[in-house]
Amino acid sequence: MENKIRGNWGTRIGFIAAAAGSAIGLGNIWKFPYITGMYGGAAFVIVYLLFVILICIPVMNSELLIGRLTGKNPVGAFKELIPKSSWWIVGAMGVLAGFIILSYYSVIAGWAIAYIFKSGAYMAAGTGAEQANVFVNFITSPVAPIVWHGIFMVICIGIVVAGVEKGIEKYSKILMPALVVLLLILIIRSVTLPGAGKGLAFYLNPDFGKLSAEGILAALGQAFFSLSLGMGCMITYGSYLKKDSNIPTDSYWISGADTLIAFLAGLVIFPAVFAFGLEPTAGPGLTFITLPAVFASMGAIGHLFGIIFFLLLTVAAITSAISLLEVVSAYFIDEVKWDRKKAAWIMGIIIFLLGVPSSLGQGVWSGVRIIGGRDILDSLDFIASNIFLPLGGFLTLIFIGWVWGTDKAIKAGNEGSKGPITLGSGYSFLVKYIAPIAIFIIFLQKIGLF
Ligand code: PHE
Repeated sequence: MENKIRGNWGTRIGFIAAAAGSAIGLGNIWKFPYITGMYGGAAFVIVYLLFVILICIPVMNSELLIGRLTGKNPVGAFKELIPKSSWWIVGAMGVLAGFIILSYYSVIAGWAIAYIFKSGAYMAAGTGAEQANVFVNFITSPVAPIVWHGIFMVICIGIVVAGVEKGIEKYSKILMPALVVLLLILIIRSVTLPGAGKGLAFYLNPDFGKLSAEGILAALGQAFFSLSLGMGCMITYGSYLKKDSNIPTDSYWISGADTLIAFLAGLVIFPAVFAFGLEPTAGPGLTFITLPAVFASMGAIGHLFGIIFFLLLTVAAITSAISLLEVVSAYFIDEVKWDRKKAAWIMGIIIFLLGVPSSLGQGVWSGVRIIGGRDILDSLDFIASNIFLPLGGFLTLIFIGWVWGTDKAIKAGNEGSKGPITLGSGYSFLVKYIAPIAIFIIFLQKIGLF
């Protein structure tokens, strides 16, 4: 059934591209490598993969089917499934998480745009330490990064105003293949650098002794963040799905593509980190310091690759950021009855302002430390990714498994699935037991109760 007022995805591949576009972003190329580096490498990667399969894919199926069945934003969706209950609060938490995430996400995306134009500076810098200088000089300056952050927000607002089909789908379809090709070329360069072997060992040889409770929670948060789960994003995107779409198959495609790209990004970054004498634990700057060193080592062609790479990274960030802004806007469009333009502009401007402290926290406000010695940006990311998203996912699972019922969910999810892959007892078991219990234990373990 066509939904004329809210819009629908034009084609199936268009939806997958858009949902994968939401999933694939800075989370894969900026965050996955640096978090993996901070929490010890290969063991972290294995735990991450387990969480994707056992926890996140069931959550993705659940969010998509809730969205498609109700055709609503996250708050409206929960209200429709069980009217007059408090479950809509889960949706509201998601809208709030989207708000917070986009505020700092846009700051990092601003760095990516700026780096499209900084090729002169990083090509002239040597390896390692000098690249770190170029980066730190830029992000600590009080004005330029905020201007880029603003430019990024305006682009996203423009696309969200254009609407689901015309905006989101069109931009998502072209990007992914290009990004994969570029990553593959960069992997070849990176693993052939002298000293790359140590990086490969760090990334691929697990040492579980290095994995802390903090690291396990970070892996969970990263899995949710990277797959755009736990905040109603996939509910919102699912609400634009036509009834004949195959939800379980689409979930596998989206999760598979996202995980593959994160994994490939690690294969570019870690060999280079070791080859250039950098520290894998460097934190949020890791990608922005390491990749320019790779480009600089490639000569003239590296210059070209650098420009293309940061351009693609920017587009990947845009397709993710618009999904965040879409969640927030869809809420105000449906529930507060604002028009699309008003919702996107007002929320976009508020989110921009909220992001300013994250940018200043790199330089003039770098003394401000909030959670466990983290700066403003990292603290917001910690709260949103490691607490809000897994909690949102946990509550969604409890809702489906124990309140609304997996029978109804399976029926709703399988509608339109003609293929061999359908939701069944495996899904039900994961949703009711494995996934929520795992999240619960990880939380307890982090606060030291386990
Ligand atoms: N998944 C996106 C990324 O990896 C970020 C995101 C998180 C988007 C949550 C939407 C919702 O970059």
